[in-house]
Amino acid sequence: MSRATARLFLHSLRRFNHSRPQFQETLTFELSQPPCPTWKLGDGASWQAEYEKTPRKTWVMKDTSKQDAYRLLTSAIIPRPIAFVSSLASDGTPNVAPFSYFSMVSHNPPLISVSFLLSPKRPKDTRENILNTKEFTVNIISENFIEAANACSVEAPAHVDEWIVSGLTMEPSQEVKPPCVKESAVSMECNLHFHHDVTPLDSHEVTTTIVLGLIKQIHVRESVLSPDGLQVDPALLRPVARLGGTSYSRLTHGFGIPRISWKKTSDEIARLTEKQCS
Ligand SMILES: Cc1cc2nc3c(=O)[nH]c(=O)nc-3n(C[C@H](O)[C@H](O)[C@H](O)COP(=O)(O)O)c2cc1C
Repeated sequence: MSRATARLFLHSLRRFNHSRPQFQETLTFELSQPPCPTWKLGDGASWQAEYEKTPRKTWVMKDTSKQDAYRLLTSAIIPRPIAFVSSLASDGTPNVAPFSYFSMVSHNPPLISVSFLLSPKRPKDTRENILNTKEFTVNIISENFIEAANACSVEAPAHVDEWIVSGLTMEPSQEVKPPCVKESAVSMECNLHFHHDVTPLDSHEVTTTIVLGLIKQIHVRESVLSPDGLQVDPALLRPVARLGGTSYSRLTHGFGIPRISWKKTSDEIARLTEKQCS
């Protein structure tokens, strides 16, 4: 990045956020009680939300424009985890980009999904690379490098190396050729397990590709593991999620709610359902 471009980028970033308070790096993830610790089976909502007092607005999706559907769905289905995907083109050109149409599919087998939104104007290099080479890594984004990861979403031509744009560091993988992101506390080496091109009902144009990745190895920095060494501690990972528009979110708060045991509650559930039937 030239000095002039860097100055322009910094200026627009400052203007973009100028009326907001500064990011609080020291704010850490805390656990509290759940919203209603005295909640019992059949109690329903713990209080009436203000939104319940307003009518619903409905979008019939077949009559909704693509832009409106994008805005609505990406702001309603939140927070979304972000896959920071590293891949290689067939000629070895490295690529790294963020994708929030991302989820865990299964732990047995260990599968993740990523969806690519396609435009006739420009292919998604990550999609092309994964379909051609059948390999990629998925890296979890923490707060300390979200700006660098965000910069990798620049819609640059295939020959541009987003690693350089981001200033992030490659770390060799063990089983696949695409590197992991050194700055990431959790990295997964994946093989392409399955892909499916999706077309809308009224056209033959492929608008989305769903990719399932089979996790071959997962690498976790020891310092983000919980004391038993078997789980990742969210307070230490400090993951970033995607909201609608250009917004991201962080985890600063959590609470636990135990699972309901059928063995322990079946009598009470029988009483509740009998009452409803009588
Ligand atoms: C946080 C974030 C999440 C994104 N999620 C997706 C996504 O799920 N699917 C997608 O196709 N593009 C997504 N994008 C846009 C891509 O990152 C962008 O198109 C990028 O240029 C793709 O890079 P590539 O062509 O090198 O693969 C996202 C962008 C950002 C900043």
